[in-house]
Amino acid sequence: SVPLPPAHTALVVRSLPTVRAEERKRILEDVEYNVFAFPAGLLTCDFLSDSGTSAMTDVQWAALMRGDESYGRNWGYYCLLEAFRDIFERGTAREHAIERILTGSVDVEFYQTKLLISSQRGFVNGGGYQLERPNFFILPQGRCAESLLFSTLAGMVGESTTIVSNGFFDTTGANASAAGFQLQVFTQPGLTDPFPPELIGKKNNFKGNLDLAAAEAFLDEHREEVSMILITITNNWAAAQPVSMANIRGAAAIAKKKSIPLFLDACRFAENAYFIQRYEEGYADKTIAEIVQETFSYAEGFTISLKKDGLANMGGVLSFRDQGLFARKYQGIGMLLKERQILSYGNDSYGGMSGRDLMAASAGLYQVTDKTYLRNRITQVESFAQKLQANGIAVLSPPGGHAVYLDMDHFFFGCNRKPEDFASVGFTLDLIKDYGIRAAESGPFGWAADLKAPEERVGIPNLVRFAVPRHVYSDEHIDYTVAAIRDLYDRRHNIPNVVITRGKHMRLRHFSAGLKP
Ligand code: F0G
Repeated sequence: SVPLPPAHTALVVRSLPTVRAEERKRILEDVEYNVFAFPAGLLTCDFLSDSGTSAMTDVQWAALMRGDESYGRNWGYYCLLEAFRDIFERGTAREHAIERILTGSVDVEFYQTKLLISSQRGFVNGGGYQLERPNFFILPQGRCAESLLFSTLAGMVGESTTIVSNGFFDTTGANASAAGFQLQVFTQPGLTDPFPPELIGKKNNFKGNLDLAAAEAFLDEHREEVSMILITITNNWAAAQPVSMANIRGAAAIAKKKSIPLFLDACRFAENAYFIQRYEEGYADKTIAEIVQETFSYAEGFTISLKKDGLANMGGVLSFRDQGLFARKYQGIGMLLKERQILSYGNDSYGGMSGRDLMAASAGLYQVTDKTYLRNRITQVESFAQKLQANGIAVLSPPGGHAVYLDMDHFFFGCNRKPEDFASVGFTLDLIKDYGIRAAESGPFGWAADLKAPEERVGIPNLVRFAVPRHVYSDEHIDYTVAAIRDLYDRRHNIPNVVITRGKHMRLRHFSAGLKP
Protein backbone atom coordinates (compact mmCIF):
# COMPACT_ATOMS: atom_id res chain seq x y z
CA SER A 1 0.00 0.00 0.00
CA VAL A 2 1.11 3.58 -0.60
CA PRO A 3 2.42 5.31 2.53
CA LEU A 4 1.37 8.81 3.60
CA PRO A 5 2.59 11.61 1.36
CA PRO A 6 5.60 13.41 2.89
CA ALA A 7 4.75 16.61 4.78
CA HIS A 8 8.00 18.54 4.39
CA THR A 9 11.28 18.82 2.50
CA ALA A 10 14.68 19.95 3.82
CA LEU A 11 16.26 23.20 2.65
CA VAL A 12 19.38 23.19 4.79
CA VAL A 13 21.64 20.18 5.16
CA ARG A 14 24.21 19.33 7.81
CA SER A 15 26.78 16.60 7.17
CA LEU A 16 27.28 14.00 9.85
CA PRO A 17 30.75 13.10 11.11
CA THR A 18 32.61 9.88 10.52
CA VAL A 19 33.78 8.76 13.92
CA ARG A 20 35.18 5.34 14.82
CA ALA A 21 33.84 3.23 17.69
CA GLU A 22 37.31 3.27 19.26
CA GLU A 23 37.25 7.10 19.35
CA ARG A 24 33.80 7.21 20.89
CA LYS A 25 34.89 4.65 23.46
CA ARG A 26 37.70 6.95 24.64
CA ILE A 27 35.40 9.94 24.84
CA LEU A 28 32.85 7.94 26.84
CA GLU A 29 35.57 7.24 29.37
CA ASP A 30 36.46 10.96 29.48
CA VAL A 31 32.83 11.94 30.22
CA GLU A 32 32.51 9.36 33.02
CA TYR A 33 30.05 7.34 30.93
CA ASN A 34 27.37 9.98 31.34
CA VAL A 35 25.38 10.02 28.09
CA PHE A 36 24.21 13.60 28.65
CA ALA A 37 27.85 14.70 28.68
CA PHE A 38 28.77 13.00 25.40
CA PRO A 39 29.57 15.56 22.65
CA ALA A 40 26.61 15.76 20.24
CA GLY A 41 28.93 16.58 17.35
CA LEU A 42 30.31 13.04 17.43
CA LEU A 43 26.91 11.36 17.09
CA THR A 44 25.07 10.05 14.06
CA CYS A 45 21.56 10.03 15.55
CA ASP A 46 20.62 11.82 18.74
CA PHE A 47 17.40 10.66 20.40
CA LEU A 48 18.24 12.15 23.79
CA SER A 49 15.38 14.63 23.68
CA ASP A 50 12.69 16.08 21.47
CA SER A 51 13.07 19.29 23.45
CA GLY A 52 14.54 22.31 21.71
CA THR A 53 15.92 19.99 19.05
CA SER A 54 13.37 20.73 16.31
CA ALA A 55 14.42 21.96 12.91
CA MET A 56 12.44 25.14 12.36
CA THR A 57 10.20 25.70 9.37
CA ASP A 58 10.93 28.29 6.67
CA VAL A 59 8.09 30.39 8.10
CA GLN A 60 9.71 30.34 11.52
CA TRP A 61 13.02 31.43 10.02
CA ALA A 62 11.20 34.23 8.23
CA ALA A 63 9.48 35.23 11.47
CA LEU A 64 12.84 35.17 13.23
CA MET A 65 14.13 37.76 10.79
CA ARG A 66 11.26 39.99 11.90
CA GLY A 67 12.42 39.69 15.51
CA ASP A 68 12.64 42.95 17.36
CA GLU A 69 15.18 43.14 20.18
CA SER A 70 13.78 46.22 21.94
CA TYR A 71 13.97 46.11 25.71
CA GLY A 72 10.33 47.11 26.21
CA ARG A 73 7.37 45.55 24.42
CA ASN A 74 9.02 44.12 21.33
CA TRP A 75 6.89 42.91 18.44
CA GLY A 76 7.46 39.24 19.36
CA TYR A 77 5.80 39.85 22.73
CA TYR A 78 2.58 40.89 21.00
CA CYS A 79 2.82 38.02 18.55
CA LEU A 80 3.20 35.51 21.35
CA LEU A 81 0.31 36.98 23.37
CA GLU A 82 -1.91 36.84 20.31
CA ALA A 83 -0.80 33.30 19.45
CA PHE A 84 -1.72 32.15 22.96
CA ARG A 85 -5.12 33.83 22.72
CA ASP A 86 -5.77 32.32 19.30
CA ILE A 87 -4.68 28.83 20.14
CA PHE A 88 -5.53 28.31 23.79
CA GLU A 89 -8.59 30.53 24.15
CA ARG A 90 -10.26 31.18 20.81
CA GLY A 91 -9.58 27.85 19.13
CA THR A 92 -8.92 29.66 15.88
CA ALA A 93 -5.50 29.24 14.33
CA ARG A 94 -6.49 31.85 11.78
CA GLU A 95 -5.15 31.94 8.27
CA HIS A 96 -3.91 35.50 8.44
CA ALA A 97 -2.19 35.16 11.81
CA ILE A 98 1.15 34.15 10.30
CA GLU A 99 0.89 36.87 7.71
CA ARG A 100 0.45 39.41 10.50
CA ILE A 101 3.47 38.00 12.34
CA LEU A 102 5.54 38.45 9.19
CA THR A 103 4.28 41.86 8.13
CA GLY A 104 2.76 43.56 11.19
CA SER A 105 4.17 45.63 14.05
CA VAL A 106 3.00 49.03 12.83
CA ASP A 107 -0.72 48.26 12.91
CA VAL A 108 -1.98 50.84 15.41
CA GLU A 109 -5.47 49.40 15.35
CA PHE A 110 -4.15 45.98 16.30
CA TYR A 111 -2.45 47.34 19.41
CA GLN A 112 -5.58 49.24 20.41
CA THR A 113 -8.40 46.85 19.71
CA LYS A 114 -6.71 43.53 20.34
CA LEU A 115 -4.57 44.34 23.30
CA LEU A 116 -6.40 46.90 25.33
CA ILE A 117 -9.56 44.85 25.60
CA SER A 118 -9.35 42.40 28.43
CA SER A 119 -10.06 38.85 27.40
CA GLN A 120 -12.32 38.04 30.31
CA ARG A 121 -11.34 34.96 32.27
CA GLY A 122 -8.68 34.37 29.63
CA PHE A 123 -5.08 33.25 29.89
CA VAL A 124 -3.79 36.56 28.57
CA ASN A 125 -5.36 39.46 30.36
CA GLY A 126 -4.87 42.27 27.90
CA GLY A 127 -6.33 44.90 30.23
CA GLY A 128 -3.66 47.59 30.56
CA TYR A 129 -1.12 45.59 28.58
CA GLN A 130 -0.64 43.12 31.44
CA LEU A 131 0.02 45.95 33.84
CA GLU A 132 -2.88 45.67 36.26
CA ARG A 133 -3.56 41.96 36.67
CA PRO A 134 -0.65 40.16 35.06
CA ASN A 135 -1.41 36.50 34.35
CA PHE A 136 0.96 35.63 31.48
CA PHE A 137 4.67 35.16 32.09
CA ILE A 138 7.35 34.57 29.51
CA LEU A 139 10.36 32.55 30.68
CA PRO A 140 13.43 30.97 29.10
CA GLN A 141 12.05 27.44 29.27
CA GLY A 142 9.51 25.13 30.88
CA ARG A 143 11.38 24.43 34.09
CA CYS A 144 11.74 28.16 34.78
CA ALA A 145 7.96 28.41 34.56
CA GLU A 146 7.69 25.50 36.99
CA SER A 147 10.25 26.94 39.35
CA LEU A 148 8.60 30.37 39.34
CA LEU A 149 5.14 28.87 39.87
CA PHE A 150 5.98 26.40 42.63
CA SER A 151 8.40 28.57 44.56
CA THR A 152 5.94 31.46 44.59
CA LEU A 153 2.93 29.29 45.33
CA ALA A 154 4.72 27.58 48.22
CA GLY A 155 4.57 30.82 50.19
CA MET A 156 0.80 31.07 49.78
CA VAL A 157 -0.65 27.59 50.25
CA GLY A 158 -0.27 27.21 54.01
CA GLU A 159 -0.63 23.53 54.87
CA SER A 160 -1.92 22.59 51.42
CA THR A 161 1.41 21.38 50.15
CA THR A 162 0.35 18.38 48.07
CA ILE A 163 0.07 18.34 44.28
CA VAL A 164 -1.92 15.56 42.63
CA SER A 165 -0.93 14.55 39.10
CA ASN A 166 -1.15 11.92 36.37
CA GLY A 167 2.67 12.14 36.24
CA PHE A 168 5.38 14.71 36.87
CA PHE A 169 8.18 15.17 34.39
CA ASP A 170 11.54 14.98 36.21
CA THR A 171 12.17 18.74 36.35
CA THR A 172 8.54 19.40 37.26
CA GLY A 173 8.63 16.96 40.15
CA ALA A 174 12.05 18.22 41.25
CA ASN A 175 10.96 21.86 41.16
CA ALA A 176 7.79 21.12 43.09
CA SER A 177 9.58 19.12 45.77
CA ALA A 178 12.43 21.66 45.98
CA ALA A 179 9.74 24.24 46.78
CA GLY A 180 8.40 22.00 49.55
CA PHE A 181 5.50 20.24 47.84
CA GLN A 182 4.59 16.58 48.25
CA LEU A 183 3.83 14.76 45.02
CA GLN A 184 0.95 12.32 44.63
CA VAL A 185 1.00 10.49 41.31
CA PHE A 186 -2.08 8.61 40.15
CA THR A 187 -1.37 7.27 36.67
CA GLN A 188 -4.05 5.01 35.29
CA PRO A 189 -2.83 1.43 35.84
CA GLY A 190 -1.71 -0.70 32.91
CA LEU A 191 1.08 1.39 31.38
CA THR A 192 3.14 -1.64 30.40
CA ASP A 193 0.20 -3.90 29.55
CA PRO A 194 0.62 -5.56 26.17
CA PHE A 195 -1.08 -4.04 23.15
CA PRO A 196 -1.63 -5.92 19.87
CA PRO A 197 0.98 -4.67 17.34
CA GLU A 198 -1.56 -4.84 14.52
CA LEU A 199 -3.63 -2.19 16.30
CA ILE A 200 -0.84 0.44 16.31
CA GLY A 201 -2.20 3.41 14.37
CA LYS A 202 -5.76 2.13 14.72
CA LYS A 203 -6.48 2.29 18.42
CA ASN A 204 -5.13 3.96 21.54
CA ASN A 205 -5.65 3.23 25.20
CA PHE A 206 -4.78 6.72 26.50
CA LYS A 207 -2.43 5.17 29.01
CA GLY A 208 -1.36 8.64 30.20
CA ASN A 209 -4.68 9.27 31.92
CA LEU A 210 -5.06 10.32 35.52
CA ASP A 211 -6.54 7.49 37.60
CA LEU A 212 -9.69 9.49 38.39
CA ALA A 213 -11.06 7.07 41.00
CA ALA A 214 -7.79 6.91 42.93
CA ALA A 215 -7.29 10.68 42.71
CA GLU A 216 -10.81 11.36 43.94
CA ALA A 217 -10.50 8.86 46.79
CA PHE A 218 -7.30 10.62 47.85
CA LEU A 219 -8.97 14.03 47.65
CA ASP A 220 -11.95 12.82 49.68
CA GLU A 221 -9.55 12.18 52.56
CA HIS A 222 -6.97 14.90 52.02
CA ARG A 223 -8.78 17.76 50.28
CA GLU A 224 -7.35 20.40 52.61
CA GLU A 225 -3.79 19.28 51.88
CA VAL A 226 -4.01 19.65 48.11
CA SER A 227 -3.18 22.95 46.44
CA MET A 228 -3.36 21.90 42.79
CA ILE A 229 -4.15 19.10 40.34
CA LEU A 230 -1.63 18.98 37.49
CA ILE A 231 -2.33 17.06 34.29
CA THR A 232 0.66 16.52 32.00
CA ILE A 233 -0.23 16.28 28.28
CA THR A 234 1.13 14.11 26.84
CA ASN A 235 2.28 12.25 29.94
CA ASN A 236 6.07 12.23 29.65
CA TRP A 237 6.47 10.34 32.94
CA ALA A 238 4.19 7.63 31.54
CA ALA A 239 6.11 7.00 28.32
CA ALA A 240 4.71 9.97 26.36
CA GLN A 241 1.21 8.49 26.48
CA PRO A 242 -1.75 10.71 25.64
CA VAL A 243 -4.53 11.80 27.97
CA SER A 244 -8.11 11.61 26.70
CA MET A 245 -10.49 14.54 26.67
CA ALA A 246 -12.89 12.52 28.83
CA ASN A 247 -10.13 12.17 31.40
CA ILE A 248 -9.25 15.89 31.37
CA ARG A 249 -12.96 16.70 31.68
CA GLY A 250 -13.26 14.22 34.55
CA ALA A 251 -10.26 15.70 36.34
CA ALA A 252 -11.75 19.18 35.91
CA ALA A 253 -15.05 18.02 37.39
CA ILE A 254 -13.29 16.62 40.45
CA ALA A 255 -11.19 19.76 40.76
CA LYS A 256 -14.28 21.95 40.57
CA LYS A 257 -16.15 19.89 43.15
CA LYS A 258 -13.23 20.23 45.55
CA SER A 259 -12.44 23.87 44.63
CA ILE A 260 -8.88 22.98 43.68
CA PRO A 261 -7.35 24.60 40.59
CA LEU A 262 -6.59 22.29 37.66
CA PHE A 263 -3.35 23.11 35.82
CA LEU A 264 -1.90 21.59 32.67
CA ASP A 265 1.74 20.86 31.96
CA ALA A 266 1.02 21.51 28.31
CA CYS A 267 4.40 20.96 26.60
CA ARG A 268 2.96 18.57 24.01
CA PHE A 269 -0.60 19.89 23.75
CA ALA A 270 -0.77 19.53 19.95
CA GLU A 271 0.40 15.92 19.91
CA ASN A 272 -2.14 15.16 22.63
CA ALA A 273 -4.88 16.84 20.59
CA TYR A 274 -3.96 14.75 17.59
CA PHE A 275 -4.38 11.52 19.58
CA ILE A 276 -7.80 12.73 20.74
CA GLN A 277 -8.85 13.55 17.20
CA ARG A 278 -7.68 10.25 15.85
CA TYR A 279 -8.75 7.89 18.60
CA GLU A 280 -11.36 9.35 20.93
CA GLU A 281 -15.00 8.86 20.15
CA GLY A 282 -16.74 12.05 19.11
CA TYR A 283 -13.62 13.97 18.05
CA ALA A 284 -12.91 12.74 14.52
CA ASP A 285 -14.81 15.67 12.99
CA LYS A 286 -13.37 18.34 15.26
CA THR A 287 -10.33 20.34 14.15
CA ILE A 288 -7.08 20.26 16.13
CA ALA A 289 -7.70 23.92 16.98
CA GLU A 290 -11.12 23.09 18.43
CA ILE A 291 -9.73 20.18 20.42
CA VAL A 292 -6.94 22.32 21.86
CA GLN A 293 -9.46 25.00 22.76
CA GLU A 294 -11.68 22.48 24.57
CA THR A 295 -8.69 20.96 26.39
CA PHE A 296 -7.65 24.33 27.78
CA SER A 297 -11.23 25.34 28.61
CA TYR A 298 -11.02 22.91 31.54
CA ALA A 299 -7.80 24.40 32.93
CA GLU A 300 -7.29 27.22 35.41
CA GLY A 301 -3.74 27.67 34.24
CA PHE A 302 -0.77 25.98 32.64
CA THR A 303 2.97 25.84 32.21
CA ILE A 304 4.44 25.13 28.81
CA SER A 305 7.88 24.61 27.37
CA LEU A 306 7.88 26.09 23.86
CA LYS A 307 10.79 23.76 23.07
CA LYS A 308 8.35 20.96 22.31
CA ASP A 309 5.05 21.91 20.68
CA GLY A 310 6.17 25.50 20.20
CA LEU A 311 8.51 24.04 17.55
CA ALA A 312 11.05 26.46 19.00
CA ASN A 313 14.57 25.93 20.27
CA MET A 314 13.96 27.92 23.45
CA GLY A 315 11.11 29.36 25.48
CA GLY A 316 8.53 28.80 28.17
CA VAL A 317 5.35 30.33 29.56
CA LEU A 318 3.33 30.29 32.76
CA SER A 319 -0.24 31.48 32.54
CA PHE A 320 -3.41 31.33 34.58
CA ARG A 321 -6.97 32.48 34.10
CA ASP A 322 -7.69 36.12 34.79
CA GLN A 323 -9.85 36.23 37.93
CA GLY A 324 -10.36 32.47 37.86
CA LEU A 325 -10.28 30.08 40.81
CA PHE A 326 -6.48 30.07 41.00
CA ALA A 327 -6.28 33.87 40.97
CA ARG A 328 -9.05 34.16 43.59
CA LYS A 329 -7.60 31.48 45.82
CA TYR A 330 -4.08 32.88 45.72
CA GLN A 331 -4.86 36.60 45.73
CA GLY A 332 -2.10 38.81 44.44
CA ILE A 333 -0.02 35.97 43.03
CA GLY A 334 0.14 37.65 39.61
CA MET A 335 2.03 40.67 40.90
CA LEU A 336 4.33 38.48 42.97
CA LEU A 337 5.12 36.31 39.97
CA LYS A 338 5.80 39.37 37.87
CA GLU A 339 8.15 40.82 40.44
CA ARG A 340 10.10 37.56 40.67
CA GLN A 341 10.07 37.15 36.88
CA ILE A 342 11.68 40.56 36.48
CA LEU A 343 14.21 39.87 39.24
CA SER A 344 15.40 36.56 37.81
CA TYR A 345 14.65 36.45 34.11
CA GLY A 346 14.00 39.88 32.68
CA ASN A 347 11.14 42.26 32.24
CA ASP A 348 7.73 40.87 31.43
CA SER A 349 7.91 41.49 27.70
CA TYR A 350 10.74 39.05 27.15
CA GLY A 351 11.34 37.08 30.37
CA GLY A 352 14.71 35.76 29.27
CA MET A 353 13.78 35.08 25.64
CA SER A 354 15.29 37.04 22.80
CA GLY A 355 12.88 38.90 20.52
CA ARG A 356 13.69 36.58 17.63
CA ASP A 357 13.00 33.47 19.72
CA LEU A 358 9.60 34.93 20.63
CA MET A 359 8.86 35.31 16.92
CA ALA A 360 9.94 31.75 16.09
CA ALA A 361 7.78 30.34 18.88
CA SER A 362 4.77 32.44 17.85
CA ALA A 363 4.89 31.09 14.30
CA GLY A 364 5.67 27.60 15.64
CA LEU A 365 2.55 27.54 17.80
CA TYR A 366 0.36 28.11 14.76
CA GLN A 367 2.24 25.63 12.60
CA VAL A 368 2.32 22.83 15.15
CA THR A 369 -1.47 22.62 15.12
CA ASP A 370 -1.44 21.76 11.42
CA LYS A 371 -3.07 18.38 10.99
CA THR A 372 -0.80 17.16 8.20
CA TYR A 373 2.31 17.99 10.20
CA LEU A 374 0.92 16.18 13.26
CA ARG A 375 -0.19 13.15 11.27
CA ASN A 376 3.27 12.65 9.79
CA ARG A 377 4.98 13.38 13.09
CA ILE A 378 3.00 10.80 15.06
CA THR A 379 3.11 8.31 12.18
CA GLN A 380 6.92 8.50 12.10
CA VAL A 381 7.06 7.60 15.79
CA GLU A 382 4.54 4.79 15.24
CA SER A 383 6.47 3.35 12.34
CA PHE A 384 9.70 3.46 14.40
CA ALA A 385 7.92 1.34 17.03
CA GLN A 386 6.49 -1.04 14.43
CA LYS A 387 9.88 -1.61 12.81
CA LEU A 388 11.36 -2.48 16.20
CA GLN A 389 8.54 -4.90 16.92
CA ALA A 390 8.98 -6.50 13.53
CA ASN A 391 12.62 -7.11 14.58
CA GLY A 392 11.56 -8.81 17.80
CA ILE A 393 12.28 -5.82 20.06
CA ALA A 394 9.54 -5.12 22.60
CA VAL A 395 8.42 -1.52 22.93
CA LEU A 396 5.91 0.07 25.20
CA SER A 397 2.77 0.04 23.15
CA PRO A 398 0.88 1.78 21.73
CA PRO A 399 3.77 4.21 21.23
CA GLY A 400 3.42 7.71 22.65
CA GLY A 401 3.65 11.02 20.89
CA HIS A 402 7.27 12.07 20.92
CA ALA A 403 9.23 8.95 21.72
CA VAL A 404 9.55 5.20 21.46
CA TYR A 405 10.32 3.36 24.69
CA LEU A 406 12.12 0.04 24.68
CA ASP A 407 10.84 -2.47 27.22
CA MET A 408 14.14 -3.40 28.84
CA ASP A 409 12.68 -6.17 31.03
CA HIS A 410 11.83 -7.93 27.80
CA PHE A 411 15.14 -6.95 26.17
CA PHE A 412 17.19 -8.56 28.95
CA PHE A 413 14.77 -11.40 29.60
CA GLY A 414 16.74 -14.49 30.61
CA CYS A 415 19.96 -12.50 31.18
CA ASN A 416 19.60 -12.39 34.95
CA ARG A 417 19.87 -8.60 35.32
CA LYS A 418 18.51 -6.90 38.43
CA PRO A 419 17.20 -3.30 38.41
CA GLU A 420 20.21 -2.12 40.45
CA ASP A 421 22.56 -3.54 37.78
CA PHE A 422 21.53 -0.62 35.52
CA ALA A 423 22.04 -2.82 32.46
CA SER A 424 19.77 -0.51 30.46
CA VAL A 425 22.32 2.26 30.99
CA GLY A 426 24.94 -0.19 29.72
CA PHE A 427 22.81 -0.63 26.60
CA THR A 428 22.77 3.15 25.97
CA LEU A 429 26.56 3.25 26.39
CA ASP A 430 27.12 0.47 23.86
CA LEU A 431 24.72 2.14 21.47
CA ILE A 432 26.78 5.33 21.57
CA LYS A 433 30.09 3.49 21.37
CA ASP A 434 29.26 1.11 18.53
CA TYR A 435 26.81 3.16 16.48
CA GLY A 436 26.92 6.80 17.54
CA ILE A 437 23.26 6.71 18.58
CA ARG A 438 22.17 8.40 21.79
CA ALA A 439 19.10 7.44 23.80
CA ALA A 440 18.30 7.85 27.49
CA GLU A 441 17.57 5.30 30.16
CA SER A 442 14.23 6.08 31.76
CA GLY A 443 14.04 3.49 34.49
CA PRO A 444 15.75 2.42 37.71
CA PHE A 445 18.75 4.73 37.16
CA GLY A 446 16.97 7.85 35.89
CA TRP A 447 14.15 7.60 38.42
CA ALA A 448 16.55 6.67 41.25
CA ALA A 449 14.82 3.41 42.19
CA ASP A 450 17.73 2.45 44.46
CA LEU A 451 17.04 5.49 46.65
CA LYS A 452 13.30 4.84 46.94
CA ALA A 453 11.22 2.73 49.31
CA PRO A 454 10.39 -0.76 48.01
CA GLU A 455 6.71 0.10 47.49
CA GLU A 456 7.65 3.11 45.32
CA ARG A 457 10.11 1.07 43.29
CA VAL A 458 7.51 -1.24 41.83
CA GLY A 459 5.87 1.61 39.92
CA ILE A 460 9.07 2.46 38.02
CA PRO A 461 9.10 0.88 34.56
CA ASN A 462 12.41 -0.29 33.08
CA LEU A 463 12.60 1.64 29.81
CA VAL A 464 15.01 3.30 27.41
CA ARG A 465 13.61 6.33 25.62
CA PHE A 466 14.24 7.26 22.01
CA ALA A 467 12.81 10.78 21.77
CA VAL A 468 12.34 11.84 18.15
CA PRO A 469 13.27 15.46 17.30
CA ARG A 470 10.71 17.23 15.11
CA HIS A 471 11.44 17.71 11.40
CA VAL A 472 14.98 16.32 11.77
CA TYR A 473 15.22 12.62 10.95
CA SER A 474 14.10 10.58 7.97
CA ASP A 475 13.35 6.88 7.57
CA GLU A 476 17.05 6.39 6.84
CA HIS A 477 17.94 7.42 10.39
CA ILE A 478 15.13 5.33 11.84
CA ASP A 479 16.15 2.23 9.84
CA TYR A 480 19.81 2.60 10.89
CA THR A 481 18.74 2.89 14.52
CA VAL A 482 16.41 -0.11 14.35
CA ALA A 483 19.21 -2.24 12.85
CA ALA A 484 21.67 -1.05 15.52
CA ILE A 485 19.25 -1.91 18.33
CA ARG A 486 18.64 -5.32 16.79
CA ASP A 487 22.38 -5.95 16.66
CA LEU A 488 22.79 -5.08 20.33
CA TYR A 489 19.79 -7.27 21.15
CA ASP A 490 21.57 -10.21 19.51
CA ARG A 491 24.60 -9.44 21.72
CA ARG A 492 22.56 -8.57 24.83
CA HIS A 493 24.37 -11.08 27.07
CA ASN A 494 27.58 -9.06 26.61
CA ILE A 495 26.11 -5.64 27.40
CA PRO A 496 27.77 -4.41 30.61
CA ASN A 497 26.08 -3.65 33.91
CA VAL A 498 26.89 -0.19 35.25
CA VAL A 499 27.83 1.17 38.67
CA ILE A 500 27.45 4.74 39.90
CA THR A 501 30.87 6.08 40.85
CA ARG A 502 29.88 9.65 41.74
CA GLY A 503 26.75 11.71 42.44
CA LYS A 504 24.40 8.90 43.42
CA HIS A 505 22.39 11.17 45.75
CA MET A 506 22.22 14.26 43.58
CA ARG A 507 18.82 15.55 42.49
CA LEU A 508 18.29 14.72 38.77
CA ARG A 509 21.49 12.68 38.96
CA HIS A 510 21.24 11.39 35.40
CA PHE A 511 22.53 14.77 34.19
CA SER A 512 25.66 14.77 36.30
CA ALA A 513 26.48 11.43 37.90
CA GLY A 514 29.67 9.57 37.03
CA LEU A 515 29.30 5.92 35.98
CA LYS A 516 31.40 2.91 35.06
CA PRO A 517 30.54 -0.17 33.06
N1 F0G B 1 7.29 19.25 31.41
C1 F0G B 1 7.42 18.20 30.60
C2 F0G B 1 6.29 17.25 30.43
C3 F0G B 1 8.62 18.02 29.88
O1 F0G B 1 8.73 16.97 29.07
C4 F0G B 1 9.68 18.94 30.06
C5 F0G B 1 10.94 18.76 29.37
C6 F0G B 1 9.48 20.02 30.92
C7 F0G B 1 8.28 20.15 31.58
C8 F0G B 1 10.55 21.05 31.16
O2 F0G B 1 10.70 21.88 30.06
O3 F0G B 1 13.00 21.45 29.21
O4 F0G B 1 11.78 23.55 28.64
O5 F0G B 1 12.62 23.20 30.91
N2 F0G B 1 11.25 17.70 28.80
C9 F0G B 1 12.45 17.43 28.02
C10 F0G B 1 12.50 15.97 27.67
C11 F0G B 1 13.70 17.96 28.60
O6 F0G B 1 13.54 15.55 27.15
O7 F0G B 1 11.53 15.25 27.86
P1 F0G B 1 12.10 22.56 29.69
